[in-house]
This record gives sequence, C-alpha cells and structure tokens, in this order.
Amino acid sequence: MKERIAVIDFGGQYNQLIARRVREAGVFCELLPCTSSIEEIRGEVLSGIILTGGPDSVTGENARKATPEIFELGVPVLGICYGMQYIANEFKGRIDRSQKREYGRTKIYYKDHPLFEGITADIVWMNHNDSVFELPQGFDMIAYTDNCPIAAFANDAKGIYGIQFHAEVNHTQQGTQIIKNFLTNICGLKCEWKVENLIEELTESIIKQVGDGKVVAGLSGGVDSSVASVLVHRAIGDRLICIFVDHGLLRKNEAEEVMQFFRNEMGLNIKYVDARKRFLDKLKGVVDPEQKRKIIGTEFVRVFEEEANKIGGVDYLLQGTIYADVIESGHNGAAVIKSHHNVGGLPENISFKGLVEPLRMLFKDEVRELGEKLGIPHKLVWRQPFPGPGLAIRIMGEVTEDKLEIVRESDAILREEIANAGLEHKIWQYFTVFTGVQSVGVKGDERSYDYCIAIRAVNSTDAMTVEWAQLPYDLLMRISERIISEIEHVNRVVYDITAKPPGTIEWE
Ligand code: XMP
Repeated sequence: MKERIAVIDFGGQYNQLIARRVREAGVFCELLPCTSSIEEIRGEVLSGIILTGGPDSVTGENARKATPEIFELGVPVLGICYGMQYIANEFKGRIDRSQKREYGRTKIYYKDHPLFEGITADIVWMNHNDSVFELPQGFDMIAYTDNCPIAAFANDAKGIYGIQFHAEVNHTQQGTQIIKNFLTNICGLKCEWKVENLIEELTESIIKQVGDGKVVAGLSGGVDSSVASVLVHRAIGDRLICIFVDHGLLRKNEAEEVMQFFRNEMGLNIKYVDARKRFLDKLKGVVDPEQKRKIIGTEFVRVFEEEANKIGGVDYLLQGTIYADVIESGHNGAAVIKSHHNVGGLPENISFKGLVEPLRMLFKDEVRELGEKLGIPHKLVWRQPFPGPGLAIRIMGEVTEDKLEIVRESDAILREEIANAGLEHKIWQYFTVFTGVQSVGVKGDERSYDYCIAIRAVNSTDAMTVEWAQLPYDLLMRISERIISEIEHVNRVVYDITAKPPGTIEWE
C-alpha cells in the first residue's frame, strides 16, 4: 500500500460514507476514532487526513477532539462540517451559532481553487448549527452561501482546508469530484487502489498468518462467510475445513444449493452437518421470539464445536468480520463477533491460536466486489439478507415442520414471482411470514378455517430504516392466488405495509 488517508471520526452520521468515497476514488483509507494516537494515525504510510462531521459544538465543554499533532505531520488536512469548525477553533478563528440553522440542499458560490477544479454545479448538502464567522490567520475563504459567509476555507501554505457542506452525500452535486480533487490536486495522489488488487495481498497475509496450520469456518451461504471462505481456500486449499450446519430453518433448496456450489463448483472442503431434527427438538413448545433466537444461537455454537472437535487439531477460526463490524464495535483491534450472525458467540470449547479475519478492512460492497472477482456469481454475492435464526423468526408461535413447510413454500413462490417480474435485485428484502392467525374462508365449495400468510417486502440502504416496497398489484394478485391454490392450509394472504420504524423488518 503506497497511499493511505486517515479519516478521523468525530461521530457524524455520514462518516463511513466519507471513507467509502475515498476508497471509491482509488485511495485506501481507514476510519479512525478521534481518540487515536498519532502513531495509529500515521500508520505505515500516510498521505492525507480528513476530519469528519460530528454532533458536538466545537466550543462546547465535552466537544470531541483529536490530537493537535495531526496538523504537524506534513500531510494535507481536509475538515468536513464539524471537521472544518474544529480546524477554525484550533487555529483561533471565530465559531458561533448561526442565526438560522442551515439544513438541506443549498446554493453555493465557489471561488477558483484546486479543491473545486472542474466543479460546475452549485448545490451542496448543508446540515449545521455552528458556522465559522472569522477566518483564522493565514486562511482564505474559498466558498460561501447566502447564509454562511465562510462555507469553505483554505490555508494553502499549511495544506489545511475546510468545507462546511457534506461532499460525501449524493445531494451535493459533484461532491465525489471535490473529494477526488483533494486526493489528486491537494495530496498529489495517483488513486490506483482497487479491491481486486487486494486478492494477492490478502492471500499472502493469510498464508503468512496460518503457516501450515488448519483453519475451520462456519459457512452459512451468506455473503461474508462465503467470500471469506473462498479467499482462504484460495490461500491454503483443503486445510480450510468449512462446516455447514443445516438447522432446517433455511429457505427452500438453500442447503442443497450452497453445498452444490461451494463444494462441487468452488471445490471447498465442506462438512455438511444435518442438525435439522436437533434444532426442531430444541424449539419444541417455544413461542417467545427472544428465546427462539437464544436457543438457535446456542445450539449453533454447540453443533459447530462438536464438529470442529471431531476434525481435531484446528489452529484457527475463520470469521467473516467486515469493516462495519470493526467500526461499530468501537474500532478496537480485538476480535469482533458479528452480533447479527448465525454464530451466537465464539465457540468456547475448542482452543484456537487465533482468528483469521481477512475481510475486516472491507466494506460490504467491497466484499461483494471481491467475491465476484474470486468467481462467486453475481446472484450469490448480491443475495438479499437472511437472518441467522432463519425461518424460525418468520413463524409466529411454536416452530413445527408443518409450519416450516408452509413458510418455505410460500417464500419460494414469492421469490419466483418477484424474479419473473424482474424485480429480484430492485427490492432490498422480501419474504413471507406465517402469521399464526387462522380465519374463515371458502376453498372450493367448502368452508375452511386455515392459516394466513403475510407478504413482507421492503426497501432500504442499510436495514436501519426501511420503507415497504410498493409491489405492483398484478404481481401481488399472482402471488396471492398461487400461495392459496398451491399450499394446503392457507386461505388468506395479507400485505404488510409497515415502515421501520415503527415496525422491524422481521416479525420477530
Ligand atoms: P429487523 O427485523 O431488526 O432486521 O428490522 C434488520 C435486518 O437484520 C436481519 N436480521 C438478522 N440477521 N441474524 C442475522 O444474521 C439475526 O438474528 C437477525 N435478525 C434480523 C433482518 O433480516 C434484516 O435484514
């Protein structure tokens, strides 16, 4: 790695986006907490620093700070929003509360400056209460808006810059070009970093870490564990042993498809474990959603431990930890366990020398890109999210084989119809729910008293907030008719039109 940007995190909501934009522009970067030491920030290579936005007021008592040494490293610094105000404060400018909070799309007037080279648009995204009212010494104003007299500043001699608006969000027109200008015109970088170039680097570091040791992995078919497994297999071959636990709570044909692809096509060394009965027995009589999740998580770890112990002599555990997990758990270097993963914690009854986490510096989209470069088909790396506890949390009440069959079949119909309508990759997540409600109907000439299936389809970018997807009526009609006619004991289909919040995506 020859070029690296340190993005210093002051707690703003778009900070991961800044890091992603820098990488998309072709420079490797790390998002570091503002409390990082100067050594951590400097790393092995440092080409520039970006200070992010944040919720504090810089003049407030408990305002987040970074070490002032960042201005003495001889690399350019760009402050965004809070980052800009932070610079102004450090260099003795005047920051104050604006008379009017500036929020939303705003017209801006740029001056001629290398940071704005080639920018012809004039709309930026603003979101701030405080503003810089007096420039620190040595700084020039390089952009303003009607409400904000200093919307960007520059100290070319020192290589320090600030922009009050969020160049990283799409609402700022040509915002990515501004970030690119910082990297090329100001930091003088070549911007040649690419995810695919990482394959060799990651392979080598896996070989170096593992030596001639044995690695065990829980392969679920999900994106992260799949990409991590294929990568490690590329590095150490059959010394990676994948354990696929079939808990019986997967979608129709899923277990077969995962095994067929990863074992037969990718040549992975996979141990298939049929634990379907075991999970169903444990779930007998359990109706409480949290209890279901706990049972499945614990049982999963148990099965995994038993199987890993049967293999014996295992040195490392492979984890599909990705960069978002690392950042969300406070950036620390310690092992991070996915909170939302199949594995309900780290196995305790096997001793490992350590964890192999080859994806821990990559964002989800980068993991997908890497997966495709490694030969995993597009449809697999772009599959919709599927919860670790599987269909169990899509069945209200006790989980039984009959109900699993109903939810599996109705889900398969839904997926097939959505694919036929060409909407497969246009909807974030979609599935059916066994509501547990029984109602009266007529099927044929007879009165029925059967179950009700709900359709859930949502759109989102991060699963934190979602809108319900507006599926076409004719598609809904086809899905409903097929579910009712093809699945026994279902006589009613309803459509869930709840956003998140207040609803969640899953029903349990
Ligand atoms: P909710 O229902 O909380 O779901 O709105 C948000 C996203 O997370 C997925 N989800 C899980 N994924 N293990 C997982 O791996 C889980 O226990 C789990 N619970 C929910 C859900 O499918 C949605 O994409």
